Amino acid sequence: MMIKEEIYKQLEREINPTHDIKLFSGRSNPKLAQEVAEALGTSVGPMIIKDFADSEIYVQVKDSVRGDDVFVIQPLCKPVNQNLMELLIIIDAFKRASAKSITAVIPYYGYARQDRKTSGREAITAKLVADLLTTAGCNRVLAVDLHTGQIQGFFNILVDHIFATSILVNYIKKLNLNPEDVVAVSPDTGGVKRARNFAKELGCTLAIIDKRRDRHNEAIANCLIGDVKDKICVMCDDIIDTAGSITEAAKLLKKEGARDIYVCAIHPVFSGPAIQRLEEAPIKEVIVTNTIPHDTEKFPEKIKQLSVANLLSQAISRIHDDESISSLFGFEKEMKV
Ligand code: R5P
Repeated sequence: MMIKEEIYKQLEREINPTHDIKLFSGRSNPKLAQEVAEALGTSVGPMIIKDFADSEIYVQVKDSVRGDDVFVIQPLCKPVNQNLMELLIIIDAFKRASAKSITAVIPYYGYARQDRKTSGREAITAKLVADLLTTAGCNRVLAVDLHTGQIQGFFNILVDHIFATSILVNYIKKLNLNPEDVVAVSPDTGGVKRARNFAKELGCTLAIIDKRRDRHNEAIANCLIGDVKDKICVMCDDIIDTAGSITEAAKLLKKEGARDIYVCAIHPVFSGPAIQRLEEAPIKEVIVTNTIPHDTEKFPEKIKQLSVANLLSQAISRIHDDESISSLFGFEKEMKV
């Protein structure tokens, strides 16, 4: 179910409909692109994108973009390789069409989780994708909740890193839970800063789960640091992929006496068994954003999707007008430290 944008009040600001933003979209999330265009008072620019018989991608920009500042919306979600290649080809088309600048608006930056070598002879795909975008001709990236902030440093071009966390926090705030009953929970040690900021915003305590991955794509919630007995737990993660991490964590929280469990995550990758796991897990509600498109009609009632369109439109508008992006944010600025 799509919840409308009235939850994100602090971002409300008049967008000048007369400024000429050239917005385009790949095929990975055209619905979000349409919403962003509407919020900006513009439309998604005309472009032909089609596949050849052998699956190669063809792109043609239909109108002149000579000397224009161009924004292309394309999350790197499933099919990841196709969407990435499509974005690179779109950027190449704009470069060869003499666009003045090309900003890749990447609501979900795929390949981000391979951001370091954890053992010998591995690739660092987050850096490789940064290099590919730059080589294709991208001048700037606008990304939402990167898996780790350090990925910004993988680029030698400008990166604007924005946060959708407030959208999720504001939803939880509207539930009017008594802060004394609530615990913000990080499902792994990597997400502690995010959970700490949830705790600060909600005025509640913090708990942390020690997650292990002994096998590929398999998460084990090993132990809990903190007290959740009779508490309402708000777990927050950046990504739900197979939902192994979050559902194993929920089971542990229930075992430790949690009363209710809410899950907040920015990027609903939802691979394989994710939806079924979430449905069956002892979780009251799962709140995600639309950085990645889904047929929400098929979601179980407990999964709510909130839109990042307003956030993206504000950021695009500010980039276009050379205004501050950081002033868009409140507590997330503190997440950097
Ligand atoms: C890992 O560091 C991420 O923050 C997520 O916790 C992870 O990607 C979720 O994956 P899955 O849903 O497959 O357990």
